[in-house]
Amino acid sequence: MTAVVTVPDRAETATAPLDERIARHSDGFRVVSGDRPTGPLHLGHYLGTLANRVRLQNLGVPVVVVIADYQVITDRSDPGPLAERVRTMVAEYLAAGLDPDRTVIFPHSAVPALNQLMLPFLSLVTDAELRRNPTVKAEALASRRPLGGLLLTYPVHQAADILGVEGTVVPVGRDQLPHLETARLVARRFNDVYGPVFALPEPLLTGTPNLLGTDGAKMSKTRRNTIGLGDTADRTAAIVRSAQTDSNRRITFEPATRPQVANLLSVIGELTGLDPVVVATEIGDGGAVELKRRAIEAINDTLAPLRRSRADLLADPGYLTGVLIDGAARAGAIATGVLGRVRAAMGMDYFSGAATRSRA
Ligand code: TRP
Repeated sequence: MTAVVTVPDRAETATAPLDERIARHSDGFRVVSGDRPTGPLHLGHYLGTLANRVRLQNLGVPVVVVIADYQVITDRSDPGPLAERVRTMVAEYLAAGLDPDRTVIFPHSAVPALNQLMLPFLSLVTDAELRRNPTVKAEALASRRPLGGLLLTYPVHQAADILGVEGTVVPVGRDQLPHLETARLVARRFNDVYGPVFALPEPLLTGTPNLLGTDGAKMSKTRRNTIGLGDTADRTAAIVRSAQTDSNRRITFEPATRPQVANLLSVIGELTGLDPVVVATEIGDGGAVELKRRAIEAINDTLAPLRRSRADLLADPGYLTGVLIDGAARAGAIATGVLGRVRAAMGMDYFSGAATRSRA
């Protein structure tokens, strides 16, 4: 469950004014965010970025969501059952409140201009810069495989995703901050060498950047410690009941010393809008049993309409594919324009005039 141990640090406080600027005046911002289609979305995604995307969309900010299919093979040897996973992901996005009329949802592989941007971008970073990216290091370690070229350059293709669709605001979990730094570095260096083409994207951290799973480790699909958005209410209850807590019966909100209890309180807080400290006081001597009952109720109440809508949408695969086709066309139009400006800035459009093969 979530460890919303939010000791505000510099990055986090820096994003608060951005949030205020967006709320005051949404013009000029474009939110870009994405997920790798490696399996169904879970509560961590929902609280971490999905709810935030929906909120920004509803504030009137243009939102672009990239389904990062090529990124699946950064840390594994094959992409898996993409067609089904991508369809499920689209259903989950829409069920959570993303509106395909306003928000562009597209698969990375359907917009080749993004990959073409990678070549000039790769020329702007060094091997040493890529190797010291902490997220790349952590993923390389977790994959137990030799560091592949695609994983090493992961931050650069993510920079291409973001800059290629003119993203200026990137809602991210803390683990993605190093990637965003690379995107900013690439944008700055490109502008320095070739002239001003890119706006520098800014991170928008949510209150719940790092979720813990029911075993106390980071919530992730590979650890099987997640609550899926599509899980049944019963399975959700079973998973929450199996969550680790501690032996102190009285419930208090102390993220540093009681992380698992704090996680559950934070989930309740996030989903109900109540302060976790207040929730803890209400539960008091009710102990872990009452804490978990409240968490199960909060999760299942919030997710019930989403789960119904997800099931309805999954019954209409043609519609889901249509959303992607439409999204790819809209993202493609933006990315083609950006690539055109990049090539012009670099002098790479040198034969774009009325070229013919006849000799003078
Ligand atoms: N790498 C991101 C993740 O694993 C997903 C992603 C791909 C992304 N492209 C993006 C996130 C662009 C933000 C912006 O979560």
